[in-house]
Amino acid sequence: MVNFLIFGPPGSGKGTQSVRLAEKFNLLHLSTGDMLRAEITAGTDLGKKMSLIMSKGELVPDEVVIEMIAVKIDSTKGKAGFLFDGFPRTVAQTVALEKMLNERGMKIDSMLVLDVDHDELVKRLIARAELSGRPDDKDPKVIENRIDVYREKTEPIIDYCSKKGLYQPVNGVGSIDDIFVRLAEHMSKIVR
Ligand code: AP5
Ligand code: MG
Repeated sequence: MVNFLIFGPPGSGKGTQSVRLAEKFNLLHLSTGDMLRAEITAGTDLGKKMSLIMSKGELVPDEVVIEMIAVKIDSTKGKAGFLFDGFPRTVAQTVALEKMLNERGMKIDSMLVLDVDHDELVKRLIARAELSGRPDDKDPKVIENRIDVYREKTEPIIDYCSKKGLYQPVNGVGSIDDIFVRLAEHMSKIVR
């Protein structure tokens, strides 16, 4: 099994690239953002509780997303491993993920970090707002808050993973095809 984190600020292209990479490398793509939005769409109690937090661009509590991943962690049947997108988002979530993987004889094999400048992120998310219907894309202040929350709470994971030799920065600006090639090149070195 081989397990990747696809990492980067809001709008860096994690979701766009994950769909294609998961197919190419036969990985199970797990996006906690997609799972949470599915809860909201389905009108579950959890979805109702989380929707306000998400619409402000704040992080939902660690235990909520850790539990979501915990129920999926034994679903790799027929897959080469996991591609985690938008999870972990705090160091506490990273430690919890490592524990879940280690208990199953697995580990985080690489962290691919999409590097995209601030103005490009904002441009992409504002452009998406109309299409996505995502409340967190609609208000430029919420977009800025999402980026601030990433810098403050999520970026420290890069330091944590760097110390373990897992950090792989990737230029996330350019065409979707070119970025895919850059990511796939790094992943090919790990997936044998
Ligand atoms: P989440 O769903 O993870 O959203 P996010 O990180 O804010 O980022 P996005 O999904 O908006 O961006 P992306 O990097 O996937 O880029 P995409 O490919 O879509 O989280 C949402 C919320 O859920 C959080 O704020 C939080 O409340 C909660 N949450 C989720 N996980 C959590 C966790 N683990 N812990 C706590 N809370 C959690 O691309 C963006 C746009 O750009 C698209 O329109 C795309 O078409 C376009 N695009 C992509 N690539 C390019 C390119 N190369 N050139 C031009 N445009 C491009
Ligand atoms: Mg996404």
